[in-house]
Amino acid sequence: MSRGYTLRFPQGFLWGTASAAHQNEGDNVNNQWYRWEQQGHILSGDQSGNAADWWHRAEKDFEWAEQMENNALRLSLEWSRIEPTEGKWDSSAVERYRHMLIDLRKRHITPVVTLHHFTDPLWFVERGGFADQENIAFFVRYVEYVVAALHDVCTFWVTINEPNVYALQGYLFGAFPPGQRDLKKALLVLRNMMQAHVEAFYAMRNIQPEALIGYCLHYRLVDPANSLSFVDRGVASVQETLFNWAPLQAGETGRFTFPTGPLLAPIPRASGARDYHGINYYTRDMVRFDPQSAIEVFGKRFTRQKATRNDPGLDNSFGEIYPEGIYRVLKEVYRRTRGNKPLYITENGFSDVLDDRRPRAILEHLVMVLRAIHSGVPVRGYFHWTLVDSFEWNNGWYVRFGLIDLDPLTQMRSPRRSASMFGEICRANAITESIVERYVPELLESVFGARGRELRV
Ligand code: BGC
Repeated sequence: MSRGYTLRFPQGFLWGTASAAHQNEGDNVNNQWYRWEQQGHILSGDQSGNAADWWHRAEKDFEWAEQMENNALRLSLEWSRIEPTEGKWDSSAVERYRHMLIDLRKRHITPVVTLHHFTDPLWFVERGGFADQENIAFFVRYVEYVVAALHDVCTFWVTINEPNVYALQGYLFGAFPPGQRDLKKALLVLRNMMQAHVEAFYAMRNIQPEALIGYCLHYRLVDPANSLSFVDRGVASVQETLFNWAPLQAGETGRFTFPTGPLLAPIPRASGARDYHGINYYTRDMVRFDPQSAIEVFGKRFTRQKATRNDPGLDNSFGEIYPEGIYRVLKEVYRRTRGNKPLYITENGFSDVLDDRRPRAILEHLVMVLRAIHSGVPVRGYFHWTLVDSFEWNNGWYVRFGLIDLDPLTQMRSPRRSASMFGEICRANAITESIVERYVPELLESVFGARGRELRV
């Protein structure tokens, strides 16, 4: 029987889901991912096709978000729709987005708009994309165009989603387009994207002084397989620094942690160029020293054997479900940035087609978010990845992250249990004992304590 214990989130906390244009809209034929799919690079052989058909029916899915009493929703704009050829703008695309944003606002859902989420127009790619510093100006011009057109319906912006994933997956591991394996180029792309964010930030600030502007990084923790081993600890720390902390520091100071080669050139005006820190957190890896893994700086990553796992995906990239990681990341970002800005969880999610681990995973991660808040970290919102199943990049339709199940052929939706649980949490702005009891009873004691007295956060 419920005793009515409750773990409350701060007033005004933002609750929502996150998504990206190419994964949801369908028929985005003018970007490098579409071409990559046509060339047969998706591991499952899938193509994005109609995706979740958001170009025509995003508003139908916003109804679900409204039912869950989400007060925010993060989506992205597709640059290749807005500027399909260099310098030629398609105002009807902007109008379509305006319609979506107005629809959200009518539902009392604050739109959070990402300007770049992995996809580039083909003409930009032909010019060398972010590997060429001179091309940053094209991105800034696009951003200015969009913000000038939509500033009356959106104030919360994400310039670039995960420059670290885009650069490393595309230019070092070769898993994303353009499929290259070139460390120097990967670092150059990362550096240029960070600069693109900084320049976009000031351009946007000029047009819309009241805007909230930031970018998000993907944070993937790396722990040593043997914590007593000097070399395991060493490679874990180098990998974690390269992927997580060097880009964060570059955003903060304009200088990279390992200033070599392309990272030597500092990024002017970087410090202060954000209003919040966007945090995307999914998992952690264990790592063991391995002289064969030169491309991964001599560390072989793997998932802990006893771990509760995500569905792994065809590339085995979705490993452990590790709730404490979100707490560790929040604390570390807060520490490294000296608490200078509020934090938003701009993404956190689980690939779990059966939805038999997701409810527990959501609850455990949220408890960890609260723990961070109670310890003084100013976390202001949580965006679950994602509302409806969407085209999962190089894994195609093979893995499912949605609160709502989608059959991409029939476009049929069926909400998973997680959706109703998430809705109850958002509505209550709290984790209540009754929610835990009904969805994940085995967590009652660990969340609320044996007699419910001490809150275990
Ligand atoms: C990306 C999303 C992606 C998710 C799950 C994040 O890194 O921003 O686009 O769907 O991971 O793989």
